Amino acid sequence: MELFEVSDNLQDPILKAYQWIKEAQDQSVALPHAMNIASLNSEGKPSSRMVLLKRISNEGFVFFTDYEGNKGQQITDFPHAALTFWWAKTNKQIRIEGTCSRVSAEENDDYFASRPRGSQISASVSLQSSKIESYESLVQTSKIFEEENSDKDIKRPDRWGGFLVKPDSVEFWIDQSNRLHKRTLYTKDGTGWKTSLLSP
Ligand SMILES: Cc1cc2nc3c(=O)[nH]c(=O)nc-3n(C[C@H](O)[C@H](O)[C@H](O)COP(=O)(O)O)c2cc1C
Repeated sequence: MELFEVSDNLQDPILKAYQWIKEAQDQSVALPHAMNIASLNSEGKPSSRMVLLKRISNEGFVFFTDYEGNKGQQITDFPHAALTFWWAKTNKQIRIEGTCSRVSAEENDDYFASRPRGSQISASVSLQSSKIESYESLVQTSKIFEEENSDKDIKRPDRWGGFLVKPDSVEFWIDQSNRLHKRTLYTKDGTGWKTSLLSP
């Protein structure tokens, strides 16, 4: 199974991002599609965490999460985020900044249906980022849910779904000797992109 879905005819800089992720994958990097995402709370304070890229297209980068969890709420309230990829093996970094929107209910349903049943159950019982009494109580809740739904398809919870991060800028960083790293910045320019080089 592919790690993530890829559209045909990708254009730079999305194509270049895909090629770098693929290069890491070809070099057997674990989770080459793992990316950090930073978001802001209502006071403008940042928080960041890892998520997995699930779809890449000329529109941008899609990941799935709990819309009512911490990041889900932050992104809903302030729909801008920054993504970072880095792979030790290739020593390349990609930084993406962009605007976020929810993907369609249809895409959410399709992707949820493709998930292993265990993941569907976990998504159903885990209210992401909320405090729980104990880990054991969560496992117990999960077991009860599983038993109660043993003969049913698991319906996607409304609060579970994907965000598209539509990039305004994408920066490619390549490690070089003597710290003279190469940085190429793509910024949105009308319907296309313009590139500039940045000092490391
Ligand atoms: C490698 C890795 C991949 C992860 N992928 C996801 C993901 O795709 N979606 C998600 O919601 N959380 C994912 N997580 C968990 C998040 O990092 C985070 O703990 C969780 O989303 C709660 O974050 P929040 O409270 O800021 O919303 C992943 C964690 C790691 C370490």
